[in-house]
Amino acid sequence: MSEIINLASLIEKQLPPELVSFIKQASALAEIKGDKLYLVGGLVRDLLLGKASLDLDLVVEGDAIALARALMMDNPAKIIVHQRFGTAKLQFSEWSVDIATTRRESYARPGALPTVKSGSIINDLFRRDFTNNAMAIKLNSDSYGYLIDLYGGHDDLKHKLIRVLHEQSFIDDATRIWRSLRYEQRLGFKLELNTLRLLKRDIPMLKTISGDRIRYELECVLKEQYPERIFARAYELGVLKSLHPSLKGNDWFEKKFKQVRQLSLPDQPPLDLYLALMTYPLTTQETEQFIVYLRLPKSLAQTLLDTSGIKAQLALLADPRLPPSGIYHLLHSYSPQAVTASLLASDSLVVKEHIQLFLAKLRYMRPALNGNDLIKMGVPTGSNIKEILNLLHDARLDGKVISKQDEEEMVREWMN
Ligand code: CTP
Repeated sequence: MSEIINLASLIEKQLPPELVSFIKQASALAEIKGDKLYLVGGLVRDLLLGKASLDLDLVVEGDAIALARALMMDNPAKIIVHQRFGTAKLQFSEWSVDIATTRRESYARPGALPTVKSGSIINDLFRRDFTNNAMAIKLNSDSYGYLIDLYGGHDDLKHKLIRVLHEQSFIDDATRIWRSLRYEQRLGFKLELNTLRLLKRDIPMLKTISGDRIRYELECVLKEQYPERIFARAYELGVLKSLHPSLKGNDWFEKKFKQVRQLSLPDQPPLDLYLALMTYPLTTQETEQFIVYLRLPKSLAQTLLDTSGIKAQLALLADPRLPPSGIYHLLHSYSPQAVTASLLASDSLVVKEHIQLFLAKLRYMRPALNGNDLIKMGVPTGSNIKEILNLLHDARLDGKVISKQDEEEMVREWMN
């Protein structure tokens, strides 16, 4: 028989008192209806690891939406209800609470979204991905804090192992392949041997998952602290090539991702910067395939294509004799994110200097005179106005004029 463990003290120690009293209130309300309430999912795992977050996942053997609405009476929060799934999310300023009805799931075919029916807590735990995520804590007053651990999740935590619950797990939902690699690297765990075997066997099942769902998984990877470690492992296991056969999780990735984090401090790097670096080694055509497969939104796609466009100009940008106006013309039509990505991606000192000059200074420089000023000075209206403004702009960029007077003098010289 497995050990009886009570985690009430871990809850008190790791969660803020307001959240603990919220949990107790939820359990009292569930009890009034004769329902059983449980804390489930990642938070149970993280409580046992001593690093709880403030995102609660509650399941109730009863009506989750009614419970969420009842909780709203005393706890003003934003509520999002999914009637179809029988779930509700309460969003507080500091934390969020997901409440669902315990359910069983089945998969009509590999990769399809599951068919959901209500079920017991036992069904609800069995539908989950890994033993570490398939534990629950009882919250009703007569058994408050008791751990339900049907699959040895606690033992696997102690041994730092990621283990699926059954042989069909990755076939049912191949996004779990990416999830397992995320947990492995985030927690410093290893895939248990049979799980590793199943993962390798089921890599082809990633083809059953829609581009939108794979994109979501990729975004989750990029929000982790060290995404490059997940990509390196994905490369080693043959998972990375499912995103694109030409992607490699090598030292280059590691070096560049580190740099992008430093550059972005104190924030997390923006997604498009990470992605632009990730696809940097691809050709333009391969980048287009990547964009289509993952159905990347337009602006993100543009950043990746712009980065590829800049890469095609590298030989010109690497010329130390290139004047500032030349740098400007090579770079100004690309998005600033793509230019920043190119700065990070390039290993040429000259290219770096040129891009830095563009980002810090050149992109903001404009001539002091405008079209009206030129007309007032007697320049005949027409297309030559635009031409002269462009010449003035270049002269500014190259330091040939530095004041309005310099520009006026230059225009007068051109008119004579
Ligand atoms: N889950 C699952 N299979 C999936 C996605 C989720 O079984 N493909 C289950 C797991 O039990 C997981 C829970 O749903 O714990 C909540 O999912 P999610 O919020 O994605 O993960 P967390 O465990 O909360 O982990 P994280 O710390 O990454 O948020």
